[in-house]
Amino acid sequence: MADTLTVTDNRTGKTYELAINDGTVKAIDLRDIKVDEEDFGLMVYDPAFKNTAACRSSITLIDGDKGILRYRGYPIEQLAEQSTFLEVAYLLLWGELPSKSELDSWVNEVTHHTYVHQYVLRGMEGFKWDAHAMGKVVSMLGTLSTFYGDSKKVRDPKVRREHIVKIIAKMPTIAAWCYRHMLGRPYIYPDNELSYAGNFMNMLFRMAEPRYKPDPIIERALDVLFILHADHEQNCSASAARAVGSAETDPYCSLAAASAALYGPLHGGANEAVLRMLREIGSVSEIPAFIEGVKKRERRLMGFGHRVYKNYDPRARIIKGLAHQVFEVTGKNPLLDIALELEKIALDDDFFVSRKLYPNVDFYSGLIYQSIGFPVEFFPVLFAIPRAAGWLAQWKEMLEDPEQKIARPRQIYTGYDERPYVPVDER
Ligand code: CMC
Repeated sequence: MADTLTVTDNRTGKTYELAINDGTVKAIDLRDIKVDEEDFGLMVYDPAFKNTAACRSSITLIDGDKGILRYRGYPIEQLAEQSTFLEVAYLLLWGELPSKSELDSWVNEVTHHTYVHQYVLRGMEGFKWDAHAMGKVVSMLGTLSTFYGDSKKVRDPKVRREHIVKIIAKMPTIAAWCYRHMLGRPYIYPDNELSYAGNFMNMLFRMAEPRYKPDPIIERALDVLFILHADHEQNCSASAARAVGSAETDPYCSLAAASAALYGPLHGGANEAVLRMLREIGSVSEIPAFIEGVKKRERRLMGFGHRVYKNYDPRARIIKGLAHQVFEVTGKNPLLDIALELEKIALDDDFFVSRKLYPNVDFYSGLIYQSIGFPVEFFPVLFAIPRAAGWLAQWKEMLEDPEQKIARPRQIYTGYDERPYVPVDER
């Protein structure tokens, strides 16, 4: 017998049987629960979607209580240890790990789409030198959509694939150009002999040398950070990509919307906020006073807490290990001691323990980025590059899902009832 939920409406005394599938009841089934024929029927009220599944997805699994993250079933720890970002992007997008020949041709395809139309740079030149890099990324994605009018054919799988490749290939180029613009340095073009992360470093850091040689430890660290940030199921930015994409908007504009969501300090902007917070704390001796301020709710401990993880974020654990490898090359980040002590004190304090507040992905990533030499405003861009793979996988899955339609939530109207318009001189 199928699982059901029996509900009694105490307003009418009527009883209803609702089907339970995959641990959910369908919100639309509640519509049958009415006090009379005129009644619209029951809705669910769920601000911030705290308990609403908006889709079926086979991409990423998070078990927040156990601190588990898997892409297409593969544990994040194994992917971070053994895979590469481009292989992970393939896995997220197409559902399986590629064979050797599939991987070679995928890498080759992405590598040969890294160049960006020269006219895009004209848009870049319009920005003030100190414009925030994320604002530029959002605009550049919108700009790219104007170069690829056919990307609007979102129902055509061939067109979708073509633009998925273009976006993954061009994200590092756009990001690197945003960085060079910020520093007033000449733009560097892609070097197709280098890896995805290595070429990104080339476009960021190359100066007068004829050929840029990335440091292998930093190159691998960036690639691992890209793997860790590639997807995180139905978060704020993935939901933005899905919602905007559900209107059949092209993928560039759908990803511009997702990037805008990521820009916020409660989401991808948190790594930037962590660095600012650590700098403001300034020394280990100031931590107790800072923690007291957090407990008095004067501020939040950035890089701590998560809507889904109620345990240590598995990505934070990997990044903490990675930080030590990077510091072997760059020298230790002086803020590391403050971060380690802050974590120790918070994990021992009942305020944080009782609320299950643990370090999230952003707590240590900023320290690595800063040691590599990135300014804090650039941190969310380093998150957006790999997350483009996740956004595209979510966008593609949404379009291929026959149950999906244009996203259109309901509301509880709390405004005035009908009232007559009053001319301005009578108000
Ligand atoms: N510092 C202090 N208190 C906190 C924090 C924090 N970082 N996070 C949550 N709380 C408290 C909050 O005050 C509340 O306490 P009470 O129940 O007594 O009012 C309780 O914990 C639950 O908080 P919430 O705001 O209901 O939790 P949420 O699920 O809505 O928020 C969050 C999740 C990530 C927005 C929040 O934890 C936060 O603001 N963290 C700091 C920002 C951050 O690091 N964001 C990165 C998230 S991971 C990467 C990403 O998603 O992009």
